[in-house]
Amino acid sequence: MPIWEYVKRHFLCARPVNGRMYDLGMALVEVNSVWKSYPRWTGLRNELQHVVQDVSFTIEPGETLGLVGESGSGKTTVARMILGLIQPSRGSVRVDDTDVASASGSELHRLRRQMQPVFQDPYAALNPRMNVLDIVTEPLVIHRQEAGIRTDRASLRAKAIELLSEVGLDDSALGRHPHEFSGGQRQRINIARALALRPKLLILDEPVSALDVSVGAQVVNLLRRLQHEHGLTYLFISHSMPLVRYLSTRIAVMERGRLVESGEAVALCANPREAYTRQLIAATPELPTSVA
Ligand SMILES: Nc1ncnc2c1ncn2[C@@H]1O[C@H](COP(=O)(O)OP(=O)(O)O)[C@@H](O)[C@H]1O
Ligand SMILES: [Mg+2]
Repeated sequence: MPIWEYVKRHFLCARPVNGRMYDLGMALVEVNSVWKSYPRWTGLRNELQHVVQDVSFTIEPGETLGLVGESGSGKTTVARMILGLIQPSRGSVRVDDTDVASASGSELHRLRRQMQPVFQDPYAALNPRMNVLDIVTEPLVIHRQEAGIRTDRASLRAKAIELLSEVGLDDSALGRHPHEFSGGQRQRINIARALALRPKLLILDEPVSALDVSVGAQVVNLLRRLQHEHGLTYLFISHSMPLVRYLSTRIAVMERGRLVESGEAVALCANPREAYTRQLIAATPELPTSVA
């Protein structure tokens, strides 16, 4: 299934949404001792491969938690468990005080409106046959009833222009299709679409890893500005420690499925406890001056 179809099915399904406020001081996301294991054939027998092992962390409203680790360390698997796309083998994930794995249909739909994913490949997440106006406003059309959204052409066009301007694009984009844009522009379109329903939490899984460094830096700065403007909460996933350090209030470091170190971003980078964390800090080149 193409990713744009997948995003639509899983995150934009229309269901009634209860208006709920966060309790002050309550974590928005609680990951409690989660495990994810898959059976693997070793040639002799089936063994369980533990791709995420006993991972716990919280994300507070308004903060950015950076999840960093080498490729294959289990970051995307953790993100998918938070999004409710896969179930933990053990442990639990709570988002907005609701257990994701055991949430009822309507609770899950409420949660999915509140958290939107942005994936690595900005092209795969966009339906190539739709123009930008339709792509950006599709979530509003799907949720028009419960959110009381006006979906006449003029209103949708105005909303699309507003969303595009938030991500640094103008109304000349409206009638164009994804292939007419550069990678950085496409990721901006994905972000505009993710913002359409005014979610509280963005799960950003390597959102700039497919982009040139300087283009990625601009998108990172955009994410920073949007967070400030909208009070968004981010889970920012990357293999690049400089990027994670630049965006995050706190950092959690994953190595081969385990969370090996976590802490406040500045302190953790100044004084890493684990040799693995030191390697991540040393291995990655610094950001271009446009970001650093
Ligand atoms: N559906 C699956 N079945 C079997 N193994 C998987 C599955 N999904 C991920 N894995 C394995 O889990 C490990 C962690 O993957 P992933 O979470 O994608 O890591 P990261 O995002 O940090 O690169 C990898 O070794 C990957 O091959
Ligand atoms: Mg990944």
